[in-house]
Amino acid sequence: TIDIDASRPGPAIDDTMYGVFYEDINRAADGGLYAELVQNRSFEYSTADNASYTPMTAWTPTGTGTATAVNDSARLNERNRTYLRLGLDGSAAGTGVVNSGFTTGIAVARGKTYDVSLWARTDQAAGTPLTVELRAADGTALARPLRITARGDRWTKYTATLTATATHTAGRLAVTATGRGTVRLDMVSLFPRDTYKGRPGGLRKDLAEKIAALRPGFVRFPGGCLVNTGSHEGYDAASGWQRKRSYQWKDTVGPVEQRATNANFWGYNQSYGLGYFEYFQFAEDIGATALPVVPALVTGCGQNTATDDPALLRRHIQDTLDLIEFANGPATSVWGAKRAAMGHPAPFGLTHIEVGNEENLPDAFFARFTEFRKAVEAAHPDITVISNSGPDDAGATFDRAWQLNRDAKVAMVDEHYYNSPQWFLENNDRYDTYDRSGPKVFLGEYASQGNTFGNALAEAAFMTGLERNADVVKLASYAPLLANTDSVQWRPDMIWFDTTRSWGSANYETQKLFMTNTGDRVVPSTASATPAGTAPITGAVGLSTWATSAAYDDVTVTGADGKTLFADDFSAGDGRWTKAAGTGSWAVRDGAYVQTDTAAENTLVTAGDPAWQNYDLRVKATKQAG
Ligand code: AHR
Repeated sequence: TIDIDASRPGPAIDDTMYGVFYEDINRAADGGLYAELVQNRSFEYSTADNASYTPMTAWTPTGTGTATAVNDSARLNERNRTYLRLGLDGSAAGTGVVNSGFTTGIAVARGKTYDVSLWARTDQAAGTPLTVELRAADGTALARPLRITARGDRWTKYTATLTATATHTAGRLAVTATGRGTVRLDMVSLFPRDTYKGRPGGLRKDLAEKIAALRPGFVRFPGGCLVNTGSHEGYDAASGWQRKRSYQWKDTVGPVEQRATNANFWGYNQSYGLGYFEYFQFAEDIGATALPVVPALVTGCGQNTATDDPALLRRHIQDTLDLIEFANGPATSVWGAKRAAMGHPAPFGLTHIEVGNEENLPDAFFARFTEFRKAVEAAHPDITVISNSGPDDAGATFDRAWQLNRDAKVAMVDEHYYNSPQWFLENNDRYDTYDRSGPKVFLGEYASQGNTFGNALAEAAFMTGLERNADVVKLASYAPLLANTDSVQWRPDMIWFDTTRSWGSANYETQKLFMTNTGDRVVPSTASATPAGTAPITGAVGLSTWATSAAYDDVTVTGADGKTLFADDFSAGDGRWTKAAGTGSWAVRDGAYVQTDTAAENTLVTAGDPAWQNYDLRVKATKQAG
């Protein structure tokens, strides 16, 4: 029975309360949402980024002659510095390279069209014939070969289409040149024609559609730890090219062949083909507000460093102001014109911007945040500048961060936590006691640790508490959003995929349920019921982590409802369980806790006993000295 009191409605819940947090983690961008099928298309991978990388990563030379990655003044662009030089020897086989794609290979489907593009220049007056082939690793053709003739010793873009004649999940893209002399190649690219909204060079349709189906109110991007870790220097012609940079939005806009590439905090490279313009456009496409995060020059995420360089700080603050102009400025403004040139003359309507992510040094962070906030609020009083409270749900760093934010009357503070499902069940009331006149909460990252139905249910229960406190919690996003099963740096995740398939987790269904059915207000309710039945345990309950150790004392086992099922101080001979070391499974029966195969006084229980109740066990124990 559910009793509601409609006369006492809670605070209004914004339709935009729930959104998504998109970070390029688990190959969410390159090899994921960004539909490019060629890995390292610009030959920019570098050992400075990752010890296992070279400019030829994912490429294998074929034929005779030479295939060399070169970084010299013949380059395509200042920010796209390395290219491939093929030295042709006139052989019939020609000289070429084969790209193996991301993770398990290039997936193609019979009958589908693929857009090929590449940049080339040749020193041969009559031009250089190029053959582009889609094929399996064993050489079997997956499409009819394309013939392109590169002409002229200036970089030129060539485009063509391939239609797959077979379905294959581990394809390769081969480019072969014939003749003599030198031909240079860069930005060798292959996209499915069928992208989200049909945008050329766009987003993988199934993934974009799954995100769109959530109908999120906002898209927080581009990360997380990705944003603020690494060097805060950028490209500078005088000082050279800084690898492992923090995510700097200006690296990611303009024609793709002129964009930088960068090492990714999560261990692989990012092409920035999915850059700030594309994020804004995607957010708009799915009816969400874009909510960018910029680096604050201080970072947590294991680095815990603060960059102390006033000139650099000024540059990043200016970059942030320029970002707002890129998003909202008229097409006649400097950065608004760049947006217009990329195909979007109308402003994107940015309303929020976040400075920093999970800062572990609250005072150092806050000093820098204050400078950002002052500059943004002075120029754009209508933009909400979001701060953060570090990486935890509580503790000294969290308290200090909140104190600083509260004292400075910051508008909104980002909280992050990844906890057990139990924590989520126990903390439904977390925001009931938050100061109603303090900063609003942006729950920018949260997840219970798992992708099971139980996790999804715990999150749903917790979200009812967010809605009950919708006057304080204004925005919330589960994290992370995407994971390629063949490149996982973090789990659980909301949507999983490989090269051809994608599927939502149980947690995705919870998010979708809440996002597509956002209520107006919560009314007080009480529920009473007898659980509709219990499931038999079909296997022994194992607590093997510590069951194999004899070094614990004062053990209490409670069920999910908090009821004590078993408590033992291990004073010998209580008739239920002994302290003897053993490797057997442990179990609860009729309120008694038994170890299944050690001391004679314990009951030996068998798996599948239908009388058992399916308890969600929690164990508290004191480790013995020594
Ligand atoms: O969501 C994964 C990571 O978790 C984010 O990058 C970071 O902000 C948090 O620690």
